[in-house]
Amino acid sequence: MKRKLLSTIIALATVASMLAGCGAAATQEAAPAADAAKQEAAAPADAAAPAADGIQVGIVLPTKDEPRWLQDQAQFESILGDAGFTNQVLFSQGSSATEKTNVETLVSQGIKVLIICAQDGAAAAAAVEAAKAEGVTVVAYDRLITGTDAVDYYVTFDSFAVGAAQGQYLIDNAPAGKKDVPLYLYAGAATDNNAFIFFEGAWSVLQPKIADGTFKIANSSEAEGLKDKAELTRDEVAKIIGQVTTDWDFNVAKSKAEAHLTANDASLKGDVVVLAPNDGTARSIADVFATDKDVTSYVVTGQDAEKASVQYVIDGKQSMTVFKDTRTLAADSVAMAVSILKGETPATDTTYNNEKKDVPAKQTDIVVVTKDNVKAALIDSGYYDASEFTGL
Ligand code: BGC
Repeated sequence: MKRKLLSTIIALATVASMLAGCGAAATQEAAPAADAAKQEAAAPADAAAPAADGIQVGIVLPTKDEPRWLQDQAQFESILGDAGFTNQVLFSQGSSATEKTNVETLVSQGIKVLIICAQDGAAAAAAVEAAKAEGVTVVAYDRLITGTDAVDYYVTFDSFAVGAAQGQYLIDNAPAGKKDVPLYLYAGAATDNNAFIFFEGAWSVLQPKIADGTFKIANSSEAEGLKDKAELTRDEVAKIIGQVTTDWDFNVAKSKAEAHLTANDASLKGDVVVLAPNDGTARSIADVFATDKDVTSYVVTGQDAEKASVQYVIDGKQSMTVFKDTRTLAADSVAMAVSILKGETPATDTTYNNEKKDVPAKQTDIVVVTKDNVKAALIDSGYYDASEFTGL
């Protein structure tokens, strides 16, 4: 992994020096632009970005209020900065309107490539269509933008595999030999295409175990009504998500979990398993389940390997997380931007349909992290420092 990153950086450095030949400003701007990007990150999301000539790559991320996206920001700034690229990272702070303003700001600064992780996959279509109309190449980052042909490429983790790994973990760690183990389902925001893919991945492995009576759905009548269907339509998934969404918000996750446990009697408690879609929501949900006197034990999933959740995993408060190595995702999208700037066709390995077209995509594998491999996966790989955790 490290070697791959290094070679990407070397390749970027080479291209950056080539680009410097046709625009010395790009290289000269590199250091101030990196600083500007950091300042921008600290400034209010919709603040006008500082004027800078020759910004080549613009990056828009959904929010700085979730540690996941700060991980991505750090990787972008380091990779692009090291390579001498001028760049801007702007945050949309949960607002599609701010996202559109951010895109317009970047376009007015002359970006050639936009790397964007949409706040709302459908609403972002208007923003990227405006960028595309100005000749910008659009790379959807992590979350697919739907219902438009203005998305040129998609760089993503294997989100179906994320959901399948979460579901499989619940199966492998449910109390052995028991029937009717209560299964609590939670999902991401309905505005995020990934929430559907994660759920579909989880359902692909959980459904047979629901149908054969190993698990009993504890908090979704919609899911219960569909328990004999191996493959769900998008509308069916939407109905389930409508009941169990966390909106990617830990407060929503907490109040939903509280409401579900209040509504259920002891027959839906005891030893339970919980599909939590990501780390932020997993920690809230775990805290609620930990305090219910009728819940004897719980197994709970997560994803993102956020520091706070890694500590929860070490402490036995969250059962697993899914490590999505943002170094790879950021490096892949920057490598894509480099190809685009050179006038080449970037390498892709699959496609994702966004309801308008099959978007060429580059997909990255995920790693399941538990107490047993946390050190190997996250510390030995150099992603985190051991000093950031206690009890390792
Ligand atoms: C990302 C997750 C993240 C979630 C909430 C999803 O689109 O893939 O990594 O936890 O959004 O921000």
